[in-house]
Amino acid sequence: MKTDFIYRQLAWLYDYPGGVLLRGGHVVVGKELAKEQNPKIAELGIGPGHSLAYYPAGTELTGIDISPEMIEKAHERLAEHPEIQADLRVGDATNTLLPDNAFDIVVSFSVITVVDHPETLLKEAVRICKPGGKIYIVGRLDRPGVGDAIFRALTHEFSLFFLGFGTKMHKNIYNVISRYVDIVKRVPVNHVGSFPISDLMILRKKDKPLGAE
Ligand SMILES: C[S@@+](CC[C@H](N)C(=O)[O-])C[C@H]1O[C@@H](n2cnc3c(N)ncnc32)[C@H](O)[C@@H]1O
Repeated sequence: MKTDFIYRQLAWLYDYPGGVLLRGGHVVVGKELAKEQNPKIAELGIGPGHSLAYYPAGTELTGIDISPEMIEKAHERLAEHPEIQADLRVGDATNTLLPDNAFDIVVSFSVITVVDHPETLLKEAVRICKPGGKIYIVGRLDRPGVGDAIFRALTHEFSLFFLGFGTKMHKNIYNVISRYVDIVKRVPVNHVGSFPISDLMILRKKDKPLGAE
């Protein structure tokens, strides 16, 4: 898996104070979740646990990451958050081994752009989410226009190598789960100045998949 090696090396980088570059997405999702009562949440690719600060009190969290170094740092950060109960473990976001329909909410920040099989991550998020539950996925999606095409061409390989997240992904990636979810909204997040480097997709899992009896 291409990201294994990168993220074992990058745990220190993502542990920098506040995870500044990716904080915008955590903040927006935190506001979306603020009114949830004791939600049962799964986070795919939790990294060093910067998102822990944005979950509502009473959250019952299962957080997984492919990198043991990231999970170790997330455990250290968890000690600062007695208001949430968390099970943090090493695991693969594309094959979590978590049960079907088990979580009220599934979140994943800046992981879809780095896994080998992003479609499988989306299907896995749908599988473990309860019918009617919400799925929040942060990742950069292409935008129309020459400026964005130039940005992608210039940044994708560089960003993937040095920061570990890519900048090239078409929104039709979500077509693989369109039968199972409604897209609630797309929100630009993680701004550098006025330029958003990521998109948050908010999805709701349908009570019944399209075409089901
Ligand atoms: C760009 S970092 C984002 C970290 C964290 N989500 C955040 O927002 O601060 C990507 C994370 O995905 C993890 N990752 C990469 N591939 C993964 C996989 N297949 N399963 C689980 N985690 C994975 C990396 O170890 C890393 O922690």
